[in-house]
Amino acid sequence: MADYKKPDHWQQKARKEGYPARSVYKLQEIEQKYGILKSRAGGCRVLDLGAAPGSWSLYILRKPDVEKNGFLAAADLSPLSREFDKGLFDGSNFFFIQGDITSAEVREALLSKGPYSAIISDAAPSTTGNHTVDAARSLELAETVLSYAENALASGGSLAVKVFQGGESGDLLKRMKVLFQTAKSFKPQACRGESVETYFIGLGFTKQPKI
Ligand SMILES: C[S@@+](CC[C@H](N)C(=O)[O-])C[C@H]1O[C@@H](n2cnc3c(N)ncnc32)[C@H](O)[C@@H]1O
Repeated sequence: MADYKKPDHWQQKARKEGYPARSVYKLQEIEQKYGILKSRAGGCRVLDLGAAPGSWSLYILRKPDVEKNGFLAAADLSPLSREFDKGLFDGSNFFFIQGDITSAEVREALLSKGPYSAIISDAAPSTTGNHTVDAARSLELAETVLSYAENALASGGSLAVKVFQGGESGDLLKRMKVLFQTAKSFKPQACRGESVETYFIGLGFTKQPKI
């Protein structure tokens, strides 16, 4: 079994490059393959759900078009790490709310900042070790993320959402295939080999946002 306490190649690389978590390389791979963070007519406006410690948020805020005139909103149960952000988390193009993305308060705050050109979520439940329970909790979070997309994603926008494989996750992908021109599952190389996580990617949202 992998030793999760020992910093691995990706963890060390992340810290060297100014990111608190290795997960930044998963987003980088998703972006390189699918271009989900490209600016659209309304600019680059991104929502990052389950954002702490903040690598994905930093990756986005360091993009030149986001620095110039983009916007990022983010939420997590935990605060963001301030170790590497060099003031980026204090910028006027960034909004963070600490709380539960399934709560009405967080939802209202984030929907009021939309519509977004991309919604991304790396949110993961605390794991119990029981795969069935963990997959069901992960799916609940992913369903919540999809409901944010249904309400606040701009037409043509993109979605990337983490899901633990198994259980009913295939049904979520089926729903995404109806809402997006393209929807598929993608497992970045930077995911640990034995990890059950994958990302569902939706490209070209076919509806108008409800907000
Ligand atoms: C793998 S981490 C995200 C890492 C992040 N993408 C980064 O690059 O730094 C998963 C996060 O999901 C958050 N999370 C899980 N359930 C949540 C919920 N209901 N509301 C908000 N955040 C949640 C956890 O607190 C945790 O910080």
